[in-house]
Amino acid sequence: MCGIVGIVGKSAVAPQLVDALKRLEYRGYDSAGVATLNNGKLERRRAEGKLVNLESRLQDSPLEGTIGIGHTRWATHGAPTEQNAHPHFTQGVAVVHNGIIENFASLRDELKEAGAQFSSQTDTEVVAHLVSSYLAKGATPKEAAQQTLARLEGAYALAILFENHDNMIIGARHGPPLAVGHGDGEMYLGSDSIALAPFTDDVTYLEDGDWAVVTHDGVEVFDSAGNKVDRARQTSQGAAMVADKGNYKHFMLKEIHEQPEVISRTISHYVDFATETFKPISEGIDFAKLDRLAVSACGTAYYAGLIGKYWIERYARLPVEIDVASEFRYREMPLNGNMAAFFISQSGETADTLACLRYCKQSGVQIGAIVNVPESTIARESDIVFPTLAGIEVGVASTKAFTCQLAVLASIAIAAGRARCTVTDAEEKELVRALVSLERLSSDTLGSGEAKIEALSRDLAKYKNVLYLGRGTNFPLALEGALKLKEISYIHAEGYAAGELKHGPIALIDEDMPVIVIAPFDGLYEKTMSNMQEVAARGGQIILITDEKGAEHVSIDTMSTIVMPEVPEFISPIIYSLPIQLLAYHTAVFMGTDVDQPRNLAKSVTVE
Ligand code: F6R
Repeated sequence: MCGIVGIVGKSAVAPQLVDALKRLEYRGYDSAGVATLNNGKLERRRAEGKLVNLESRLQDSPLEGTIGIGHTRWATHGAPTEQNAHPHFTQGVAVVHNGIIENFASLRDELKEAGAQFSSQTDTEVVAHLVSSYLAKGATPKEAAQQTLARLEGAYALAILFENHDNMIIGARHGPPLAVGHGDGEMYLGSDSIALAPFTDDVTYLEDGDWAVVTHDGVEVFDSAGNKVDRARQTSQGAAMVADKGNYKHFMLKEIHEQPEVISRTISHYVDFATETFKPISEGIDFAKLDRLAVSACGTAYYAGLIGKYWIERYARLPVEIDVASEFRYREMPLNGNMAAFFISQSGETADTLACLRYCKQSGVQIGAIVNVPESTIARESDIVFPTLAGIEVGVASTKAFTCQLAVLASIAIAAGRARCTVTDAEEKELVRALVSLERLSSDTLGSGEAKIEALSRDLAKYKNVLYLGRGTNFPLALEGALKLKEISYIHAEGYAAGELKHGPIALIDEDMPVIVIAPFDGLYEKTMSNMQEVAARGGQIILITDEKGAEHVSIDTMSTIVMPEVPEFISPIIYSLPIQLLAYHTAVFMGTDVDQPRNLAKSVTVE
């Protein structure tokens, strides 16, 4: 999603702006631009595509100036062209924006009628024109910004630069996050603290509805009513989150291989290894008193939630309703005081998930958040935070955040089971042991199987469509496998509950349709085998992911069988995620796609 930076600096800021934008690349973008004030005049450079294009533009034609704003754009309104790239300029004003101005069409009509000339198809340009129009009527920059904000509907983080005002950037936040960085005689704005990490770790997060006047001397923050407000300064973890690829070819591969360590780190937050019991993680939420749990998330985080539902219902006997966030918020689910609502998000900034959180909060429902970014809006607005300690995830396709979400959900299921007396002391110890074995088992899996998966990926890359099948917790894993493959390799893939095959998808089966079956040798193995037989009978190519016993019992020829270590059933979705991720990764590498930043995708989805 779009990324914003702003610097009120002491020396030439264009290189610093580009440096900060590079740290926002992980969010996904398709064009970029920077603007500075040079002797009071606004100048900008913009380019389609990656930041290297903007850098070469700046090399050919450098930008002077000690104050400036920058932007990486993920297109919503208008194609990813240079013309639509930010910053947008109007009379005396430059604007960068993350979000969607929902009433942009009516504002544009109004502004056009008043004589404004539009030069892009973006919603953002109305913001710049509005500010200009208020300036033209005699407003000061502060007044013009405030009057403009009052007219906007939708979601925005904004940074506005004004001609002839070389000591002021105005930032505003309504929805997407915006952080102010405090430096030594320099001040900064950024979509997150990671962007600001090279400059400062001293940050102030704007709250929803806030706007801020940033100058060399500091920042003044105002709420939506225009009252001056104090917002705390905090030391951000952004600096620690600055990541590099190490010896890996892609961030995604590095993040896949980090999983043994980060899963273990996450588990140790919830589990007392010495006593083999869960730490009291649920302070503030009495699971014994709940009559149901609502869970909501998007994409991969939603699939983690689906697996969590199986666990929480099985071990804690607590009914779980789960929805994708974009549906939850509009389906008018009845809410009550005996329930809690949990939201799962790597970034902690996903607009749909955040909107659901706020919807539940308004109704007095207790809010829990399973998040990876501790400073994120979702974390800050929740009553109780269950951190995933995956560290920064740069690859757009979620891998380690997903398995850490699973580790947290597994812990919550057992902690809730203890609180509800559905898990005994002995069961708790056994389940803790299973969680503790995750580091070893995930490390064995990654160590032993990758070469075979890489070779198999070469074959998979030849197909145009792939199906994934699984039962029980392997059904959501089938959905996740299909998502992973399609989002980075662009091969069409779908996941199904294995039992659903005969209700429609079986019509697709022929020799050109590989079917990836996730079937550890558990209580559902035989049932899944029957579905595999149905595929084989129709000439489908089967890739079976199973364990040694499963491989021994399989009675049909497969295109390939990936043999996993034997793992306790409870944790098998976490371990079986690994071959699924590797398969998608290596297939995408063979396809030659941009694995870490696949087309059209964003890491942090801050619009609806
Ligand atoms: C897919 C992926 C996305 C995210 C989704 C939610 O690999 O990463 O589907 O899971 O956009 O993002 P977060 O977890 O940041 O709320």
